[in-house]
Amino acid sequence: SDPDPLQDFCVADLNGAISVNGFPCKPMPEVKPSEFFYDGLTKEGNTSNPFGATVTAANVLAFPALNTLGISMNRVDFAPGGLNPPHSHPRASEAGLVIMGELLVGFVTTDNVFRSKVLKPGEMFVIPRGVVHFQLNVGKGKAMTVTSFNSQMPGAVILPLNLFASQPSLPYDVLTKAFQVDQKVINEIKFKFA
Ligand code: GLV
Ligand code: MN
Repeated sequence: SDPDPLQDFCVADLNGAISVNGFPCKPMPEVKPSEFFYDGLTKEGNTSNPFGATVTAANVLAFPALNTLGISMNRVDFAPGGLNPPHSHPRASEAGLVIMGELLVGFVTTDNVFRSKVLKPGEMFVIPRGVVHFQLNVGKGKAMTVTSFNSQMPGAVILPLNLFASQPSLPYDVLTKAFQVDQKVINEIKFKFA
């Protein structure tokens, strides 16, 4: 649901002088045939991180031919037990297809209703724009899902990082009041993401 395109392709000039909403187009004669294709989602992401999951994004920055088309995709890889932590996308709804493994896919509505289901390969899920959601690998082996978005740059607010790993940090008074805990507890969480 990004703005409608005014031309077939507007392959992004990521180094363009202006960037108002998206990117300026490279002159078509300068666009190489290979730029209309992208193989960045062929590789398994490295899941050795505290969450045990990694998102590989095919957004306009990775795949400049998406510029002005209002679409993009991710590949998310999970180690056993891996979690794509609760997050939301400020600029896009998401449709996901489980490719491998068993994923508990969950979201919380704006009325704080939690819904979830364990999905197997071939099964889909959908997340409205801005709604907080996660995927947890509940299978025995690895898992993988491919997700798609109605934005060339959906953005992701990853709640634990947004709240506890921002630069600079949120004031302690905000976090202790928001979560009704002592500064000690806040520090313990922050330390994990330092
Ligand atoms: C999964 O939720 C993703 O954002 O790719
Ligand atoms: Mn998502």
